Amino acid sequence: MIKKFIPYLKEFKKQVILTPTFMLLEVVCEMILPLLIAGIIDKGINGGGGLPVIVPYAGGMICLACVSLFCGVQSSKNSAVATQGFGRNLRKALFEKVQTFSFNDIDHFSSASLITRLTNDVRSIQMTVSMALRMLVRTPVQMLSSFIICLVLNPKLTLILAVALPVMTVFVVTIMKKAHALFKAQQAAIDGLNSTVQENLVAIRVVKAFVREDYEREKFQKSNDRLRDAAMRAAFHMMKVFPVMMLILQAATIAVYYWGAHEIRDGFMLTGELTSYISYISQVLMSVFMVSQSLNQITRAAACATRVLEVMETEPDIQDGKATELPEAKGKIEFRNVSFKYRSGTGDDVLHDVSLSIEPGQFVAIMGGTGTGKSTLVNLIPRFYDVSEGQVLVDGMDVRDYPIEALRSRIGMVLQKNVLFSGTIRENLLWGNPNATEEELYQAARDAQAEEFILGKPEGYDTFLEQGGVNVSGGQKQRLCIARAMLRHPSILILDDSTSAVDTVTEAAIRESFHTNLKDTTVIIIAQRISSVETADKIIIVDDDHIAAVGTHAELLETSPIYQEIYQSQQEGGSMPNG
Ligand SMILES: Nc1ncnc2c1ncn2[C@@H]1O[C@H](COP(=O)(O)OP(=O)(O)OP(=O)(O)O)[C@@H](O)[C@H]1O
Ligand SMILES: [Mg+2]
Repeated sequence: MIKKFIPYLKEFKKQVILTPTFMLLEVVCEMILPLLIAGIIDKGINGGGGLPVIVPYAGGMICLACVSLFCGVQSSKNSAVATQGFGRNLRKALFEKVQTFSFNDIDHFSSASLITRLTNDVRSIQMTVSMALRMLVRTPVQMLSSFIICLVLNPKLTLILAVALPVMTVFVVTIMKKAHALFKAQQAAIDGLNSTVQENLVAIRVVKAFVREDYEREKFQKSNDRLRDAAMRAAFHMMKVFPVMMLILQAATIAVYYWGAHEIRDGFMLTGELTSYISYISQVLMSVFMVSQSLNQITRAAACATRVLEVMETEPDIQDGKATELPEAKGKIEFRNVSFKYRSGTGDDVLHDVSLSIEPGQFVAIMGGTGTGKSTLVNLIPRFYDVSEGQVLVDGMDVRDYPIEALRSRIGMVLQKNVLFSGTIRENLLWGNPNATEEELYQAARDAQAEEFILGKPEGYDTFLEQGGVNVSGGQKQRLCIARAMLRHPSILILDDSTSAVDTVTEAAIRESFHTNLKDTTVIIIAQRISSVETADKIIIVDDDHIAAVGTHAELLETSPIYQEIYQSQQEGGSMPNG
């Protein structure tokens, strides 16, 4: 698993080498310091050397402390460059991967989880890399060298470690084993809190409209409490570590003092040596603690790494087709015995054995009850999903043979749940086609009947739209989305219920501009109002999972009971915006 993350660190080779190197230099300085103290005590104080002996030792200590400080700072600096860069690269790779995802892939992960993976999980891995760079080299070196110095200073006293080390190891391993489960629960609680907050913020308007703030508050409180409890359980558990560690350390120190005193009395050791011996033995024991902490951090990050790799290793289920020669873009569409079911759905066909053909330049309307598969049907044309059976052809070629970009550049699509981005109106429209000229921009706005209200705003095309286009009305937003799609000059324009919030007069004007200005463009609209579809060359009635009828307004009035029913209901009830 680790191997898979190395590429994101590659460009920081220098820092990856320098960080542990400076760390090691720092450890070396820290290792020498106690020896100098021993010198001051044994030679300067007890040996009677006085100031002339103490001053050089003290000077040496100051120099070492400065070098140690310098190395520490350098190590942290290099580690920061490497790990922050690593995080950036990993996030970039993840983001790019997500951009290649099909609708299916996004349904599979859910956007909330993708956000957590891209932010939280990456941060956790990043922290582990930082720790690995600094601790994984430092700790073993510190442990081993302290141990060797202990042995050299006094092999007999080092036997104390033979008792203290196993006790400490058993204790730490027991604590960490349980800690892993507790931290995992804490991570899950963080996930839970994130998704509660995310869902609330996305739907904040609905929450306010239904005055359900209290309910939401309670929901939030629950996940918030859950996180506090989980975090507290983990913290309480970990709190035991330090006092017990200190207890073992103090016990070892007392033992060292006790037997050390005997050693001094018998002339095997000097007082200063004993003082420094204590420092080294604590370093050995502290290292055990550090190793366990590092292992703990690694296991915590392993869960995050798995989640990140899941995203990285997903092969988008929609891949570019192989065709190199593309047919001329005319706008012909054909469905041949198409069946389709959602991977995440109930397992039933949403569309079953659907065949239809739409000629270039036709104005086609699709009608039918909600949930009958109208959106699904049109989403197959730009290949947002692949058919389960049968074939969809655009300009005579199977959509699966097109390079995706080539296919989608032929199609202008206004989705049922469309969005605008934060930015000016101009930026939003040009987002559909960055190369469009000013004149084309104005023409598209005019065709979509958006020009009037755009110019009515004090800043016109430079009016700033907030995220999601919340500061324009529903109908205005729909018209901007239509203009954005038109600006691509597609040979096929698909509007999925995109004029439902536009009044009938404006809608008629939009339809009129399709007839006059987009004569050669195949236009498919999904609509609920008879008035929206009356003039269509062809009306397709979708029912359940199949096409129930195809014909013009006049033909369907004669032959299709469903169409007759819709017509009747709208005659009686007047114009019913949502059928
Ligand atoms: N992403 C999805 N995953 C699973 N099932 C889905 C998905 N999208 C739609 N469905 C299901 O497929 C069926 C057809 O949905 P579709 O959105 O095509 O209907 P529609 O005719 O466009 O309805 P409406 O008029 O309300 O827009 C529905 O039963 C719906 O629950
Ligand atoms: Mg729909």
